[in-house]
Amino acid sequence: MKEEEENHSIPVSKVNRVTHFLTTGARIGRNYLRHYGRKLVDPDTPRDLLHEANADDIYASLSRLKGSALKVAQMLSMDRNLLPAAYQRKFAMAQYSVPPLSYPLVVKTFRSSFGKGPEEIFDTFTHKAVNAASMGQVHKATLGKRTLAVKIQYPGVADSVKSDLAMVRPIALSMFHLSPTEYDQFISEVEARMLEETDYQLELRRSIALSEKSKVIPHVVFPKYYPEYSSSRILTMDWLEGEPLGEALKSGIPSDQAQVLGQAMWNFYHFQMHQLRAVHADPHPGNFILMPDGKLGIIDFGCVKEIPDAFYSSYFQLHDPSLFDDEQRKIRVFSELGFIYPDDSPKDRAFFIDLFTQLVALLGRPFRFESFDFADDRYFATLYDFGEKVANLKELRRSKRPRGVRDAIYLNRTYFGLYTILHDLKVRVRIKPSYEA
Ligand SMILES: Nc1ncnc2c1ncn2[C@@H]1O[C@H](COP(=O)(O)OP(=O)(O)O)[C@@H](O)[C@H]1O
Ligand SMILES: [Mg+2]
Repeated sequence: MKEEEENHSIPVSKVNRVTHFLTTGARIGRNYLRHYGRKLVDPDTPRDLLHEANADDIYASLSRLKGSALKVAQMLSMDRNLLPAAYQRKFAMAQYSVPPLSYPLVVKTFRSSFGKGPEEIFDTFTHKAVNAASMGQVHKATLGKRTLAVKIQYPGVADSVKSDLAMVRPIALSMFHLSPTEYDQFISEVEARMLEETDYQLELRRSIALSEKSKVIPHVVFPKYYPEYSSSRILTMDWLEGEPLGEALKSGIPSDQAQVLGQAMWNFYHFQMHQLRAVHADPHPGNFILMPDGKLGIIDFGCVKEIPDAFYSSYFQLHDPSLFDDEQRKIRVFSELGFIYPDDSPKDRAFFIDLFTQLVALLGRPFRFESFDFADDRYFATLYDFGEKVANLKELRRSKRPRGVRDAIYLNRTYFGLYTILHDLKVRVRIKPSYEA
């Protein structure tokens, strides 16, 4: 894990910190940060014992959470940077400490879905899981010449999402110092996406639909999915033989190859945003596989954000540089996106217009160019510094309204994930995506 940090020119903790203005806004966790001080998260400053002890307490209470509550607590603590990097990593691994499904339980799941055990369906089937999934585990199977990935969901996951998430609320409100309105907006969106993630039939339909349509994009590959071996708790697809992107990034990817991967990823995301209006909303290295032929393998359509038409036309105006030349249009778009509200005081209104103008200009900077160099450390440093500044604004802290609409939450996360991977790949991307070979 240590070398991972050293590979980043910008410390991991800073990357985590910035996500909090890219997601729900910037209120959460500031009181905490103020209370415990920057020291806690600044790797360069020696931490004193008191801070360690406080982090221990928080870690202990959060890690008592289970299932989807744990996942949301992880999301929030990452976004809000509540825990020092070492705890973040320990915490992130907590999901994998869920005891794996025993083979008899796997067989039982197969029998209730297909009336047959895995060994009656496949030629070979690993008794042990080969990978952990967030709500289940992945086994490897073969059938004829094909090698397959079989994702199996833990029993009871779907039923427990709502009750799990109810456990996070008091913690989020007290420990994370979230405002109830903001939290409720955030959690209703997260709950909706998580409930969808528990439905592997839905994931199957989306995987097939989105991957079929996205096949036109050069240099990307998707597994073939098998409805006949899938159910609400089992999802079967081709195994993509290659190196997980996270591993490949650690060992180093030659720049010409990284270039192809980065451009393919950019094109894939913009094809989904603009052509399909439904987006694979989980761009992190675990969901990409570097294929032996240099193509980008893409898996895991478990979390998909569908983009409503009205929101689409407001949100993507933010990428249009000419928005800032037309004050009236800008105000209209900012209102539609919940950056400002009709009942804001004139002072608040002026403040938020100025703040979001800066924020949009900064995050949308790549869209003002023909090509943009995501390797640029200075750009990312500016982004992170701005994020920290925003996080400490009292105007945001006392705002009674969430600043930003619910539909933006997963799109912002997606852009943040995409920018981060492109930065790690150190690529220059052609902004106007091209969807033809
Ligand atoms: N088709 C596949 N080919 C190769 N590896 C896979 C495949 N599907 C899943 N995996 C492995 O299993 C892990 C978990 O699967 P994933 O679908 O991403 O689950 P989750 O929805 O929980 O993130 C992946 O990160 C990857 O390492
Ligand atoms: Mg995944």
